[in-house]
Amino acid sequence: MNVLFVNACVREESRTKVLADAVLKKLGGTVTEVNLNDSDLQPLNREHLNYRSERAGRRDYSDPMFDHAKAFAAADVIVVAAPYWDLSYPAVLKIYIEQVMVDGLTFLFSEQGIPTGLCKAQKLIYVSTAGGKVYGGNMGYDNVKVLAEAFWGIKETMLFQTEDLDVWGVDIKAQLDKTVAEIEQSNL
Ligand SMILES: Cc1cc2nc3c(=O)[nH]c(=O)nc-3n(C[C@H](O)[C@H](O)[C@H](O)COP(=O)(O)O)c2cc1C
Repeated sequence: MNVLFVNACVREESRTKVLADAVLKKLGGTVTEVNLNDSDLQPLNREHLNYRSERAGRRDYSDPMFDHAKAFAAADVIVVAAPYWDLSYPAVLKIYIEQVMVDGLTFLFSEQGIPTGLCKAQKLIYVSTAGGKVYGGNMGYDNVKVLAEAFWGIKETMLFQTEDLDVWGVDIKAQLDKTVAEIEQSNL
């Protein structure tokens, strides 16, 4: 099983990474990590978008700019680790998503504008930690879940998250341990 680990944990001492490690341990398989903190990915600007659209328009995906999308489409399971930032996720994850949203590689648009998923993965696991409470749902996860289901064709998405980590006096380890136990007991 090929596991693609999309690591959007920015801080060196990331608590979200603790949850990701528990998921990866439970899953097993061969893990390929995309560490977005080390990557030099840039947001799609006008020049890159025009270049990419022109290539994708004639189904020429030979440029290395499509490598992330190809790896994403080929993975058996995808694990995304992203701290809860500004009610969603760090911008590096959005930049990565721009890279993998390629018509003809991770999804295919019909003439009626309806996407069909082209990703092999049947499961995407998202882990996150938040400083406070995640009111109204984790909007970072919600965004990725809709992309997974509606565009990439990934049927099952799962969220594991720990809240309240920046609440004064909270036992951070105990909070994380509860989520790690949830991960260990889950049916990944
Ligand atoms: C730039 C930034 C934005 C944040 N935004 C939120 C937020 O919207 N809601 C929240 O509950 N915590 C927020 N936090 C706190 C983090 O979610 C929390 O510290 C989390 O555990 C960080 O994960 P990490 O230890 O993996 O880096 C934010 C932290 C940073 C640095």
